[in-house]
Amino acid sequence: MAGRIPKQFIDELLTRSDIVDVIDSYVPLKKAGKDYKACCPFHEEKTPSFTVSVDKQFYHCFGCGAHGSAIGFLMDYEHMSFVEAVEDLAARAGLKVPKEAGIVSEQDKDSGANLLEILREASRFYRQQLREHPQAGRAVEYLKGRGITGEIAHEFGLGFAPDGWDNLLRALGKDDASREALARAGLAVKKEAGGYYDRFRDRIMFPIEDYRGRVVAFGGRILDKGEPKYLNSPETPLFHKGRELYGLFHAREAIKRDNRVLVVEGYMDVVALAQFGVDFAVATLGTATTRDHLERLFRHAPEVIFCFDGDRAGREAAWRALDNALPALREGWQASFLFLPEGEDPDTLVRKEGRDAFLARLKTATPLPEYLFDNLMRQVDMNRMDGRARLVELARPLLSKMPTGVLRQMMLDRLAELSRMDVGKLPVPSGNAEPANVFRTARRGSSSGPQEPPSIVRRAIALMLQHPVLAKKLSNESELAGLDLPGMPLFLELCGLLKHSPTLNTAAIIESFSDSEYQHHLSRLAVWGYPAMAENVEMEFDSVINRLCAASSKQRTQRLLQKQHVQGLNQMEKDELARLLSVKRDNSRLSPSRH
Ligand code: GTP
Ligand code: MN
Repeated sequence: MAGRIPKQFIDELLTRSDIVDVIDSYVPLKKAGKDYKACCPFHEEKTPSFTVSVDKQFYHCFGCGAHGSAIGFLMDYEHMSFVEAVEDLAARAGLKVPKEAGIVSEQDKDSGANLLEILREASRFYRQQLREHPQAGRAVEYLKGRGITGEIAHEFGLGFAPDGWDNLLRALGKDDASREALARAGLAVKKEAGGYYDRFRDRIMFPIEDYRGRVVAFGGRILDKGEPKYLNSPETPLFHKGRELYGLFHAREAIKRDNRVLVVEGYMDVVALAQFGVDFAVATLGTATTRDHLERLFRHAPEVIFCFDGDRAGREAAWRALDNALPALREGWQASFLFLPEGEDPDTLVRKEGRDAFLARLKTATPLPEYLFDNLMRQVDMNRMDGRARLVELARPLLSKMPTGVLRQMMLDRLAELSRMDVGKLPVPSGNAEPANVFRTARRGSSSGPQEPPSIVRRAIALMLQHPVLAKKLSNESELAGLDLPGMPLFLELCGLLKHSPTLNTAAIIESFSDSEYQHHLSRLAVWGYPAMAENVEMEFDSVINRLCAASSKQRTQRLLQKQHVQGLNQMEKDELARLLSVKRDNSRLSPSRH
């Protein structure tokens, strides 16, 4: 998605916007030296450790580790998608988001007919039909039969799509453009032979809202028995099933209040739970819980409880949710699983036993780590050595998906305990200090030794990332191209980027790596420091680059010497070697070089 908005535009946007203004409009900031501070909006704290840097255009919380650019802030704090955040920021800066094939910005939606407007109109139409259509009695009876009060139906904006092929089309499809827009909004279907027909017919309509409460799609339930039981809007420019969650906007205050969110399977479950005062529930839209869903949910609350049917399908869905949750489980985030008695769903259960009993059930939900191990242990014979070995094999791919951190370490400890194996011998990398990953070599493999001093490449990257002007001083990076050290590919990519776009600030650099595995490391390095770095940045940078050049010459010399030994050198290589050796002699007379 990020790829669809031109990178240059993101760069320009992040150089033209001021992150201090953006954040200050949500979280009042106080000036502290060069930076700005506040109590962190992403975790509870009494003394401010949330810092916003004007130079870097980047925020970072030293308490919880939250960090990012102005775009990242809007995504995390306002729960916007990437495109939404870019549009918001562009509007503040008075810039227009350029259109590229495939990206639909707010402006696009305005051209011709506005899809959001059409969806709002449609929602109004369906609600009105529930009150006024001659056949509405059947729909009302159906809802009553399911125990839904008029009040809650109103709260969720439930409506009725009457039977017939063109009720909506006649009401909203006055001209070709609006009929075309109805089709683009997923409400009408274009016939091959020409013309359109209503997608939703004779169904109870559940409007699906986005993060701001705007209707972006519908789910429609059949009144009688029939197929399909539920019909959802197709994917449209506004609606992506794997991203939206039914009821999220309605529940967001309650989720904030309770610090937790309940994920159920059905529309009816969300509505019934809310009617009984369990108002922090959302539903996926007939799909598995995706990683996108989870990232979104965890931005609202640190605890996610999944609720599934107790049958086999429910257990399979739970396992898929677990699989998707693992990579999202950052520090302090929790997921648990609740299985309902067979034949029940939250809707039937809350009606049967009431709010308090249902809430009590939530307390019995199984924490994800326990669920994971219980499930795997059921598949092996723990009394056998080869059974416990199999447990390790089954757990390995799962634990490897988790971000490094305390929880992952604790789960590794637990796996060691269960398999009666030394944790150091487990075939899952314990992966401690995260920024080190890109830089770690097989040679230095052992992670148990004393902490290594920060590598020279890492210093170079951090310096240049935090002070992009330094890149202008670089004239000799071509000398470094062949240097084989962990982190060098990233360093060279960074040099290339800054040569090409020298005005980028820290945040823009990180954002331009948004599709890359490096982004995470860069975010860490953006706020990482070591003593010499704070003293004299330019001198430190010179010395770091000199050491890299020296390391590069040394490596090249060794390679040439080796080649000379094995297969001989051509004339060019001989000259190069002679030059390298003479430079080395000069240098060693001046100062004993260490790398
Ligand atoms: P009720 O029967 O009305 O109580 O629905 P439910 O929500 O209990 O239904 P169920 O547990 O069968 O399905 C859970 C969710 O899966 C629904 O809310 C829908 O989002 C989705 N779903 C169910 N049936 C269908 C279907 O036939 N087609 C599609 N696309 N989705 C469905
Ligand atoms: Mn149901």
